[in-house]
Amino acid sequence: MSDAPHHLKFKAPSTWITRFAPLAPKDGPSGGMVLDLAAGGGRHARHFLDRGHPVTAVDKDVSALADLARDARAEVVEIDLEDGSPWPFPPAAFAAIMVSNYLFRPHFEGLIGSLEPGGVLLYETFARGNEAFGRPRNPDHLLISGELLDLVRDRLQVVAYEHGETDEAPPGVKQRICAVNDLGLSTRDDGEPAPHPLALG
Ligand SMILES: C[S@@+](CC[C@H](N)C(=O)[O-])C[C@H]1O[C@@H](n2cnc3c(N)ncnc32)[C@H](O)[C@@H]1O
Repeated sequence: MSDAPHHLKFKAPSTWITRFAPLAPKDGPSGGMVLDLAAGGGRHARHFLDRGHPVTAVDKDVSALADLARDARAEVVEIDLEDGSPWPFPPAAFAAIMVSNYLFRPHFEGLIGSLEPGGVLLYETFARGNEAFGRPRNPDHLLISGELLDLVRDRLQVVAYEHGETDEAPPGVKQRICAVNDLGLSTRDDGEPAPHPLALG
């Protein structure tokens, strides 16, 4: 039995991330740059690399990302996101930002601000009710009902959202959102943003 940290045992990317990864633009000002925040073993950064995106993978422990650091298309950043420092990335720097199974609310504003126009936020993590399944149980690490919807309201177009129990590893109660930074980019007379396909990768 491997003695790797629990979260490094999940190698396959989340189906939420793979489903909506095709919405990340490749031809925007960032050149398709994708941020994997709290990347762990980098399963999602690797997925985007395979899709042809350059990636920035951030974690306080980058020991499982050594191979990525040797890839010219990947930047690996070792940083403690919770040490009180401001959000470490510039505005409009990323075509996609993904966060999977990590929650640190003080960086919510930075996350949204670092999406380029047309960029996509893919966020999924544990939510209240997960206490019955196991860790995390600390409310600081559990989203409340509708929290990701509230975060993006009037700022990003919500493409998909769900909240509930899932068997997908690691199982538990999760909340997930896919939202695109294209409010205000409308070419329609009514100002509504253009729709996106739902059944992607
Ligand atoms: C449950 S794992 C999720 C890893 C990855 N996102 C995935 O879904 O496979 C949480 C990750 O958050 C990272 N993390 C926790 N606290 C952090 C901090 N203060 N700064 C940066 N990374 C942190 C951990 O090192 C770990 O890799």
